[in-house]
Amino acid sequence: MSKHERLLIVDFGSQVTQLIARRLRELNVYCEIHPFNTVDDAFLDRFAPRAVILSGGPASVTAQGSPRAPQKLFEMGVPVLGICYGQQVMMEQLGGRVESGHHREFGRAFVTPTAAHEGDRIFTGLFATGREEVWMSHGDRVTALAPGFEVYGTSPGAPLAMVGDPARQFYAVQFHPEVHHTPNGRILLENFIRLAGFTGDWTMGAYRAEAVEKIRAQVGNGKVICGLSGGVDSSVAAMLIHEAIGEQLTCVFVDHGLLRQGEADEVVSMFRDHYNIPLIHADESELFLGALDGVSDPEIKRKTIGRLFIEVFERHAKSVGDAKFLAQGTLYPDVIESVSFSGGPSVTIKSHHNVGGLPEKMGLKLVEPLRELFKDEVRALGRELGLPAHFIGRHPFPGPGLAIRCPGAISHDKLEILRKADAIFIDQIRRHGLYDDIWQAFVALLPVRSVGVMGDGRTYEYACALRAVTSVDGMTADYYPFTHEFLGETATRIVGEVQGINRVTYDITSKPPGTIEWE
Ligand code: XMP
Repeated sequence: MSKHERLLIVDFGSQVTQLIARRLRELNVYCEIHPFNTVDDAFLDRFAPRAVILSGGPASVTAQGSPRAPQKLFEMGVPVLGICYGQQVMMEQLGGRVESGHHREFGRAFVTPTAAHEGDRIFTGLFATGREEVWMSHGDRVTALAPGFEVYGTSPGAPLAMVGDPARQFYAVQFHPEVHHTPNGRILLENFIRLAGFTGDWTMGAYRAEAVEKIRAQVGNGKVICGLSGGVDSSVAAMLIHEAIGEQLTCVFVDHGLLRQGEADEVVSMFRDHYNIPLIHADESELFLGALDGVSDPEIKRKTIGRLFIEVFERHAKSVGDAKFLAQGTLYPDVIESVSFSGGPSVTIKSHHNVGGLPEKMGLKLVEPLRELFKDEVRALGRELGLPAHFIGRHPFPGPGLAIRCPGAISHDKLEILRKADAIFIDQIRRHGLYDDIWQAFVALLPVRSVGVMGDGRTYEYACALRAVTSVDGMTADYYPFTHEFLGETATRIVGEVQGINRVTYDITSKPPGTIEWE
């Protein structure tokens, strides 16, 4: 467990619980999210939080069997902030009353402070205009305050928009301070953590030193292999581990023949030539492309690629003096166990390939030095470790590579066409200075031919789709609003410069209902 000042977020299943953690991490506060049903007295003793935040959630505290917090949490003498469902749990468990909502309130609202608390420290820097815009989303409402609580803020639809017990430093809000739609929510969270005495000791510099120590303690003099994909996460993990154990680490970069133009050279030269990190460049394109020959079903493509990655890693683990550890760039959002109220397993939309399935099969122990970090923290750590900015800002690229950007059966020829078109699209984006505004951009080569006319001749070639999205975490996404000029210029370049494509379309589907990749 981290040695830093710790804040515990008890998750009641809100869609936006992760945002609470992100906001706090931005404030240099180390926090962890734990589902309410895993937080018991023993856990609280072990975790020893300096403060606790209770998240929102979809349940109603008036419903039988609805989630509660362990009572001990309110008896530890640490500040508690309840958000939405968390507010209702606090009121209910501390002696107030919550009633089922005849009055549902969703969306924008304005909170004003009560005269008695307007100048309190919890409101430092707020209410400059007399009121604050907040985002409400609740069905139930508190009708009787728990003993010790006073009203801090009200809104037209929520007379108890914010309540507090200053003696115990318990606060509870009906709105969501963690979302962007509450523009000054971050200030409220900051005031709360300052009241709780956090000094903000969670920095990437401190984390780097600690992580290095931890890796050394875990690995001893054992050997580690690290699957390097060329993405930010695995690159940062590799550099951190290399700093910790030097030559005991060997990276394996699997070239499955589904990479973008120039990608293998870029990754290999950076790690082998610039950083001197031992690297096996496994050219396995024949193995992968052979196995994918004639395969057009997206799930079979994904599973075939996943299986072959396992085979290749197994071979290389043996070849580097029997490595016992496998390193991967798992991030905190992959680790957080979200609370499911439906009880059943969620539907598999796509079998994402990552190497999470490896260890059981290979009997390797995992080294995951980024398990506690969010993506923006990984980028900060990458900067700390000296990774070049253009590498840190690279768009995500999926494990199965171009296979899932070439719907239908894959061939060498199609992949070549796709690589060229993709390189032009990315070049266009860079030339227009848009690369860093976009989460991810790529071309999908469609399994459709269309008729065109070039010069005096007829063409009958492939159509392609441009895809560019903005997103915070890849879970939801919006298409990027290029200008018509940009799109026209890009289409002209692709059709003019790439033999094999005579038609360009722009995919303007958001996620949901679409997904970012085409397969
Ligand atoms: P979708 O297509 O599910 O993609 O909206 C969301 C994000 O995940 C990436 N992605 C993958 N990343 N292995 C990966 O490492 C995969 O199998 C995989 N499939 C999708 C995708 O590029 C986007 O950033």
